[in-house]
Amino acid sequence: MSGKTPRARVNAEAVYGARSRDELEAIYDRWAGEYDEDATGYFGYLGPELALERFERLVPKDARILDAGAGTGRLGKLLFDAGYRDLTGFDLSRGMLAQAESLGVYRALHHMALGETLGYADDAFDATACIGTLTTGHAPAEGIDELLRVTRGGGLIVLSLNLDTYTADGIKDRIDRLLADRQWVLVEASGSLRIMPRGAPDMNHEIRVFRVGAE
Ligand SMILES: C[S@@+](CC[C@H](N)C(=O)[O-])C[C@H]1O[C@@H](n2cnc3c(N)ncnc32)[C@H](O)[C@@H]1O
Repeated sequence: MSGKTPRARVNAEAVYGARSRDELEAIYDRWAGEYDEDATGYFGYLGPELALERFERLVPKDARILDAGAGTGRLGKLLFDAGYRDLTGFDLSRGMLAQAESLGVYRALHHMALGETLGYADDAFDATACIGTLTTGHAPAEGIDELLRVTRGGGLIVLSLNLDTYTADGIKDRIDRLLADRQWVLVEASGSLRIMPRGAPDMNHEIRVFRVGAE
């Protein structure tokens, strides 16, 4: 048996260890064509499916939806197949966006970074997803404020969080501060679950749904 590290693991270690946004973008650009095969085949990644379940239960079909860090568009495809049509996405990587574009399910896709001011109006969306993106070496905790700005009061924000790293990444603090400031309320939290049961079964993730505003 060869001791070669599988491609999926090499790429995953590279993105979580990226030292700058430019480096991260370049790695995702290179990985984009094989990302889905690695994410689903090797890691058994379930982020989009777990998010879809929340959308189908909590978000009406005519909602204006933002997919923040849309990647190859797996969530967009699932939402489209479930009957959602008003889908907008953005991502740091043009390579990942090209994959998403090829699915033909998003009304618009943009090359933008969470952590900077997003090119959307206040209250532009009824529901926002940020799955697998608000994490180590990816989008910073401050990015959450922009998700709140572009999601209307009463709208929902669905996040996946890595419970093993979100304290060190400052994400837990940001979430708690926004709760204390009554910027959003927690609607539901999944509790610890395995989002990558095949390739990373020891990692603890959680899917949380927040409602924008004080109640
Ligand atoms: C693990 S993938 C998840 C993609 C998709 N959300 C999914 O669940 O299949 C992370 C994605 O976040 C993007 N990303 C990383 N940092 C970002 C940032 N600051 N702003 C926007 N996208 C970012 C990457 O380019 C990549 O497409």
